[in-house]
Amino acid sequence: MCYDTLYEAVGLTAIKYGPLHNAFPDPDNQEDIMEIVVKHDYEEMSRFAAEYIASFIRKKPDCVIGFATGGTPIGTYKELIRMHREEGLDFSNVITFNLDEYLGLGIDWSKPYSRDQSYHRFMYEELFCHINIKQENVHIPDGLAKDPEEFCKSYEAAIKEAGGIDLQILGIGGDGHWAFNEPGSSFDSRTRVEKLNKQTLDDNYEAFFRDAGFSREDMPRYAITMGIGTILEAKNIIMLASGRKKADIVARALQGPVTNEVTASAIQLYRGNAVVVLDEEAASRLVMLTGNAARCC
Ligand code: GLP
Repeated sequence: MCYDTLYEAVGLTAIKYGPLHNAFPDPDNQEDIMEIVVKHDYEEMSRFAAEYIASFIRKKPDCVIGFATGGTPIGTYKELIRMHREEGLDFSNVITFNLDEYLGLGIDWSKPYSRDQSYHRFMYEELFCHINIKQENVHIPDGLAKDPEEFCKSYEAAIKEAGGIDLQILGIGGDGHWAFNEPGSSFDSRTRVEKLNKQTLDDNYEAFFRDAGFSREDMPRYAITMGIGTILEAKNIIMLASGRKKADIVARALQGPVTNEVTASAIQLYRGNAVVVLDEEAASRLVMLTGNAARCC
């Protein structure tokens, strides 16, 4: 997949930088580039991200997409739903692999639907129920698996069997995590069970559990997550962040030292096409985006 071609298809312009860190440059690899797109606000960011994903699907209707959860991609998913309804965006051959799921949560399809805070529920309510995706093409880590370790191995195998992930959608956690790869996770980690740290539990409680009437103690302490190594094997990455509260961690991930204390900083090691879509607030701490170097599109 040629990123420039895809980008032209989107019909928008972006700020283009080479690798921001020159610790691992690869001048011969034209595709080893991270593009940072700064949009005015959350709505514009979401529309851009959805258009990017949609143009990917139009070019490769049977593509494998890695989906993410969290508040950030909700606007993107809403726009994808609109495109499906109004423009006929076709998901019938798209295969999906979600990044993560809380251990102990998930949908038991043999039982009546019940409200829970699983990422399964999130994905079906925010996207999958509203588009023509085939259920057999949807893969989400099974938080209810009897043998989670075995499940993790089978998830990795399923990704390989599907031919790998063509486009991975990512957010960023408050502590800089990708998926549920908490600080300290190895950059070559694979799908596994991970213990969630306090900040992640606090953030996700506020964002998703509190209003649904759950107590902090009800929150799962563990999750199944794709590893950083798994994510870095995706052929393309689109990472989203919005809001002032993400500004510091976005700057650390994109421009700070590459460290597994901020697992999203692995993006600087990524060998492929990475596009980071931010709103102005989330981009406000990026040093290269100040003064004349800045250009919003
Ligand atoms: C969770 C998810 C991550 C997501 C993060 C940020 O921890 N596991 O994949 O990136 O939340 O979520 P939000 O977009 O709500 O800030």
